[in-house]
Amino acid sequence: MKRFPNPSITREEAGRALDAAVGIVRQNLPLFAGRCQNHSSVNDIYPSCENVQWTCGFWPGEIWLAWERTGDAAFKDAGLALVDSFLRRIEERIEVEHHDMGFLYSPSCVAAYKLTGSEAGRRAALLAAEQLCARFQEKGSFFQAWGPLGAPDNYRYIIDCLLNLPLLYWASAETGNTRFAELARRHTATCLAHSIRPDGSTYHTFFMDPATGEAVGGRTCQGYRDDSCWARGQAWGVYGTALSYTYERKPEYLDAFRRVLGYYLERLPEDMVPYWDMTFTSGTEEPRDSSSASIVACGLLEAAKHAGAEEARAWRTLAAQMLCSVAERYAVKEGPPGVGLVRHGTYSKKSPYNSCTPEGVDECVSWGDYFYMEALTRYISDWKMYW
Ligand code: GLY
Repeated sequence: MKRFPNPSITREEAGRALDAAVGIVRQNLPLFAGRCQNHSSVNDIYPSCENVQWTCGFWPGEIWLAWERTGDAAFKDAGLALVDSFLRRIEERIEVEHHDMGFLYSPSCVAAYKLTGSEAGRRAALLAAEQLCARFQEKGSFFQAWGPLGAPDNYRYIIDCLLNLPLLYWASAETGNTRFAELARRHTATCLAHSIRPDGSTYHTFFMDPATGEAVGGRTCQGYRDDSCWARGQAWGVYGTALSYTYERKPEYLDAFRRVLGYYLERLPEDMVPYWDMTFTSGTEEPRDSSSASIVACGLLEAAKHAGAEEARAWRTLAAQMLCSVAERYAVKEGPPGVGLVRHGTYSKKSPYNSCTPEGVDECVSWGDYFYMEALTRYISDWKMYW
């Protein structure tokens, strides 16, 4: 495995970085009261938005992490107020015809239930788990990511979905209904069979045949082109395989984690924060995606719990090096109300070969902020995860 000479963040530094992030979340509470942050910032400042985007769970996730760090009731009150919004969203089926139920409901409502016993949080998260199950396609064994169910031009899953599956494992444990976990298990098997290329890189999206369920092939949406490797897709692969191992304890899942991580490390520039697609390396003018670094740090810290001593030490060191770089060079130290926590994220950058809508290029991105706080929290404590 590739090693790096970079400095590691210390526990004390990580604690101070987390406190600085909590300070910005506290500053932003009045601006976003009862609302959500847009998926990405504009010149590093987030507009507020209604609870309608796939990214709306990350702001309440930051609030819950801030509450865990401080015990300040202002955070708890703000987190619980948002649970009501999330319950209404799923009950009234507002923008929930897609697979991102875990991204939405784990850091908002599962967190609220685990931390405070919120019954509204539990109900909302269980409804979200059922909604995700409704997107399972028997032909091909996968959760259809986007679009009308069964539509041939949308008959595909995406690597990101691995982060939606913990909601289902939680729902199974909570209700005793094994179907939730069974579908998560089947989707994971499909994803790991097709989405990881022989060199350890990943496809962003993968099409299946709606008539036969056979694998068709990989395509990108947010990466540079079909045969390149979108950095955040790779990061979802790193964290997602670690979480899959946590829930399933199948040795092949930890092997998948090693392969995906290995490719990611090989393509990193010197400061260990990737460019938005891993086809780009040191010397390019292309923007970074700092959110990938924090997501991978979370995956490393999760996988380290399950590894032997030597591997666990190496993985924790890599996470500490990545966090040092993000905290020193990318994290916002202070700014006006609405400012994000981590600069230089990239949501979707248009290329001549991809199909995305350009949004949030070289900006703060809400999941980048959330996973930065989660990674710091993981690094300094024995954190009980929301996933
Ligand atoms: N899950 C969509 C993204 O990472 O941009």
